[in-house]
Amino acid sequence: MPEPEATQTLTAIRARLARIPTLGSDELEAEYIALLGRRQGELTILLKALPSLASEERRSVGAEANRLRLELETAVAARRAGLREAAAARAAQVTDLTMPGRAGWVGGEHPVTRVTEEILEILRGLGFARAVGPEAETEWYNFGSLNFPADHPAMDMHDTLYLDTGAQPPGDREGRILLRTHTSPVQIRTMLRVRPPIRVAIPGTAYRKDTFDPSHAPMFSQIEGLAVDEGISFVDLKGTLLHFAQAFFSLDTKVRFRPSFFPFTEPSAEMDIGCQLCGGSGCPACKGTGWMEILGCGMVHPKVLENCGVDPERYTGFAFGMGPHRITMLRYGIPDIRLFYEGDMRFLGQFA
Ligand code: PHE
Repeated sequence: MPEPEATQTLTAIRARLARIPTLGSDELEAEYIALLGRRQGELTILLKALPSLASEERRSVGAEANRLRLELETAVAARRAGLREAAAARAAQVTDLTMPGRAGWVGGEHPVTRVTEEILEILRGLGFARAVGPEAETEWYNFGSLNFPADHPAMDMHDTLYLDTGAQPPGDREGRILLRTHTSPVQIRTMLRVRPPIRVAIPGTAYRKDTFDPSHAPMFSQIEGLAVDEGISFVDLKGTLLHFAQAFFSLDTKVRFRPSFFPFTEPSAEMDIGCQLCGGSGCPACKGTGWMEILGCGMVHPKVLENCGVDPERYTGFAFGMGPHRITMLRYGIPDIRLFYEGDMRFLGQFA
């Protein structure tokens, strides 16, 4: 004889009652509503339907249904209390007030950023305003306007990263697009934009097709300086850079200038400072010479002034370019430029 429908429902509900003590808190509340919810609860519906059953069935089903309701209410209440207690025990466990605090993670500026800002601050004190320019440049700004001859080896695909390797459109004097190999094109952009007197300091990133080694990276920082005015001479260049070296390193820092060559300056020089590690007596860091090279400089070539519409008969100027990565290495005795690019907190944390 098939069991009446109501009895089957009660059997199913009793099975669900057995699982109440295993439910998590969301499941528990959902199950409570599914069974005992005021409108849609399965047991509620069954209880409401009792009056329509035949009297014999009504008595047995009714008794079991009411028993089940009581047992469900009791089991749900017990489970709720159990979950509450467990949560309270967990909370008490994690707030051990005697546990020593963990030191917070303190971030810091990257050492190269710090050094860059320090250099710009010194130059600002001498009247050099900050200027910037694009990292994607044209051949004309990066080379031609700076008096590089058309066949200069620096323009070779081996040294320069070209973004646009297509043929140069005829008559287009700006040429192909590349990643600037130095910040000197911003000298040109500045002179084309403002009339002298000019004093700007230009921080930025430059790119060359170098592979990483202890002293090279394909992407590195530069700071360019440019001063153009009436009557500027090499003495102004030397005075400015000596002041910079002594303000940045130490007051007793010595400098020396060696003749050099850049297409966009004439005369050109390289400035060395007395070795910061051995004080000039000679050590591995200065290769025994007592000197460290820190920047290139020179008097702005008259052709460069002309290319920017600045009259070289009336104005003269000086320019210099240095590498904050290199200078940071010299200052802190860091042996490998690659450390700046790795983001290793054990290295960076020493500067925070
Ligand atoms: N642009 C040169 C370089 O990258 C540095 C420089 C700048 C030299 C200004 C002289 C004057 O090597």
